[in-house]
Amino acid sequence: MVKGTVPFDAAKAATAMHDISGVPDKYVTLFPQGTEHGAIADSEAAPKIWEAFDGFKALVQKLKDASLKAEAAAGEGEEAFKSAFGDMTKVCKDCHQSYRVKKQQ
Ligand code: HEC
Repeated sequence: MVKGTVPFDAAKAATAMHDISGVPDKYVTLFPQGTEHGAIADSEAAPKIWEAFDGFKALVQKLKDASLKAEAAAGEGEEAFKSAFGDMTKVCKDCHQSYRVKKQQ
């Protein structure tokens, strides 16, 4: 939708953003202490998650805020949505760069 391959649909965009906004709450519980790097063989979760859990939680909250903003922006039209969506994907990238290690293929 953002790429313009399918027409903008405010309702669909809002639903998708709403789904994302529900995920961050789970993130915090998905990485409990004791599942540090190495404990789960094929995890890409960086050890830093547990070393700097407060920073990780802050990014989780940021994603939640950004996805809720994008959900609201969907009702304001395509341009507003694209901009809010772009902001949200920056949060995805921020967290992956800091807290995710790419597995060797
Ligand atoms: C708070 C940190 C954080 C944020 C924000 C975040 N991610 Fe992630 N993401 C991770 C971590 C850590 C992993 C690696 C998890 C693992 O391998 O156990 C991951 C893995 C993934 C994967 C691979 C999943 C898999 O099954 O291997 C996808 C796809 C992904 N993220 C998409 C996103 C998208 C899209 C967003 C934004 C809407 C996002 N992530 C935001 C931390 C984050």
